[in-house]
Amino acid sequence: MPHYVKMGTIPHKRHVQFRKENGELYYEQVMGTKGFSGIQSIIYHAHPPTQIRAAKKLKEIKYEYEAKDALKHRHFRTWDTKAGGDFLEARKIFMANDDLAIGIARPTEQMSYFYRNGEADEMLFVHEGKGKIESIFGELSFVPGDYVVIPIGTTYRVVLESEEARILIVESNSAIMPPKRYRNEFGQLLEHSPFCERDIRPPEKLEMKDEAGEFEVRVRAQGMITSYTYDYHPLDAIGWDGYLFPYAFSIHDFEPITGRVHQPPPVHQTFEAHNYVICSFVPRLYDYHPDAIPAPYVHSNVESDEVLYYADGDFMSRRGIEEGSITLHPSGLPHGPHPGKVEESIGKKETKELAVMIDTFRPLYIVTEAHSYEDDSYMYSWLPE
Ligand SMILES: [Fe+2]
Repeated sequence: MPHYVKMGTIPHKRHVQFRKENGELYYEQVMGTKGFSGIQSIIYHAHPPTQIRAAKKLKEIKYEYEAKDALKHRHFRTWDTKAGGDFLEARKIFMANDDLAIGIARPTEQMSYFYRNGEADEMLFVHEGKGKIESIFGELSFVPGDYVVIPIGTTYRVVLESEEARILIVESNSAIMPPKRYRNEFGQLLEHSPFCERDIRPPEKLEMKDEAGEFEVRVRAQGMITSYTYDYHPLDAIGWDGYLFPYAFSIHDFEPITGRVHQPPPVHQTFEAHNYVICSFVPRLYDYHPDAIPAPYVHSNVESDEVLYYADGDFMSRRGIEEGSITLHPSGLPHGPHPGKVEESIGKKETKELAVMIDTFRPLYIVTEAHSYEDDSYMYSWLPE
């Protein structure tokens, strides 16, 4: 997130001696992106993060994609996604391509280890449940409606504070950022942006865990998970500063942009990454031209596969959709409101819909396992009843 944050205790200058009360040095770690030319933070550890006692390969991560068949609009009812396991075990990927993977997790158990994704930023959209992310950057709490963005390379674990949670997950092979057009030349969010720095919540609390013992960190890199054993608690930072840190942004803090006539999807944009965007559809007043049609027009999402995750409220342009539904409208097929939904929308004053849209600029591939949640009739739901 391109704004500067400082937590805990750090020395007055970078790369100088910084000592503990007993005279020993703290261990400085520069955590940068794009090889020292992207955003970065500098972290001060109580113990060297390089001291590894053991390394063991746990598993490879490979998605089995469905065979190619007729191109169709797709609908997956994810509400009944199998719950169980910890935050990582619970993760079920529904679709992916070379830029990202999209899945659902319904964890019910606590993580007995720490996790670091060394090949992707992760975005969690918390649909249900609450808890906190305990990371090297401190503690960050989350509640329903929060987007939590965790940068690549962050060591963390999810601590659930509810019996279970329902989380939409994006694993991103590039940095997830607020759109460039919302920011000025220094990265500050501009007046026309639907949110500003005050809506971005960095970690709330940093407490150095200076503990000896046996600690496991599972690292994802090169398409596999490797388990590493450390002699010290991995969250041993006394302080850090910089532009790279996990943060939360509530979808309820997204201020919708409305107009006299229908506004195009980019007004809902919340994040951007390489080859895809994330948008928020939030409760808002409808268009106020006397002849306005609030429902969207039929559109060709040319060069873009459009994924919608329906979180809450009536989704005004669709039928047969329920909470937790994921629809995929692939590039190449125009789509739009279901029969009757255009007329139905006329004269309405507001919508209560809450949904997350992910538009990918390259085709998504469906993971075979997703078939068990699929509503096969969706493709034909535009036919008259
Ligand atoms: Fe659309």
